[in-house]
Amino acid sequence: MTLSSSPAPVPAPVLAIESSCDDTACAILDADGTVLADTVLSQAGHVPFGGVVPEIAARAHLAALPALVRRTLDDAGMRAADIGAVAASTGPGLIGGLIVGAGLAKGVAVALDRPFVAVNHIEAHALTARLPGLVPGGAAFPYLLLLVSGGHCQCIAVEGVGRYRRLGGTIDDAAGEAFDKVAKMLGLGWPGGPAVEALAREGDPAPWPLPRPLLGRPGCDFSFSGLKTAVAQKLAPFAGDALPRAVAAGIAASFQDAVADIVADRVAHALEMMPQATLLVAAGGVAANGALRARLAALADAHGLPFAAPPLRLCTDNAVMVGWAAIETIRACRALGLPAGQDLDLLPRPRWPLEQMAERFAPLHGRAPSSSMCPSSMCPDSM
Ligand code: KG4
Ligand code: ZN
Repeated sequence: MTLSSSPAPVPAPVLAIESSCDDTACAILDADGTVLADTVLSQAGHVPFGGVVPEIAARAHLAALPALVRRTLDDAGMRAADIGAVAASTGPGLIGGLIVGAGLAKGVAVALDRPFVAVNHIEAHALTARLPGLVPGGAAFPYLLLLVSGGHCQCIAVEGVGRYRRLGGTIDDAAGEAFDKVAKMLGLGWPGGPAVEALAREGDPAPWPLPRPLLGRPGCDFSFSGLKTAVAQKLAPFAGDALPRAVAAGIAASFQDAVADIVADRVAHALEMMPQATLLVAAGGVAANGALRARLAALADAHGLPFAAPPLRLCTDNAVMVGWAAIETIRACRALGLPAGQDLDLLPRPRWPLEQMAERFAPLHGRAPSSSMCPSSMCPDSM
């Protein structure tokens, strides 16, 4: 395998689609990461259910995406024919939404005869910090990523494009899921994280001590289900009565403190597992939490590392990160003389372990990428 001396430029602009959970998003990026248009629609249909309903999500993506793509092109002042490459989250996530988004993106790529990049949604979160201008001085590899959202809770060693090691993750609920469930118990709306954070500001946690599952244990796995059960037990005596606001606020504050303690402890262990890390990055909706951010910033400081959390719009699900991951992938492949943007045969999948992203670069090691690249249920946990 010979390395190309001057890699071909990234075909741009890149049209990117995100539909792996409950946000329908589309973005257009220039080859250098400049965002030319960025649209996100949050689905309201889940609110009465207090969580994401996959069937509702898939139908809402189907209803919204064509017009959203049209609107994104309009926002960028472009026609479809101006697009140089197409990308879509192709896994992991809710399969119905992935089929809708990746299917539409592939259709656009085929119709325009443009490259298509199948993007791993977690890889997109992992690379977001490298978007030009986000982290002062840039986010150079290797760095530690804490991904905490409604669907994900894991620590990832980000060592290069396509080079990821999952150091640990939740063994039950994701952190955001715990926030949402506790919010529901406290009679707050969905999504619950912001409501719990707001209520916690006025609460005294002291009368409501809660456990910190896995605290101090080796490794950096997370567990939140015991904490959630403990909250339910604290609330049990009030069943049937109106919950006094001071009680709700105290429990919210205590719960948030417990989550911050757990996450800080687990990330401290992850940093020990990755002594070569040059930066700590937090992403995902829960990274919006002020108390958690403050703890993580202090932790990074204690390790002599900078801390970065992309702005909320790029922390939560969005299509800019999908377009940027596609650009990084194309660049990395081309720098190595490998083909890129030939992913039309790659099928949407609910699970897609990050470690499999190295398969794109497998030809360098004399191996062809496996045609399956993990078809769904064959995989171990990969979220
Ligand atoms: O990344 P995200 O928008 O979607 C995915 O789950 O992929 O994350 C949403 C999650 C929800 O569980 C929400 O309750 C939580 O992030 N969240 C927060 C805060 N803002 C959003 N959790 C705690 N504090 C917040 N301020
Ligand atoms: Zn996500």
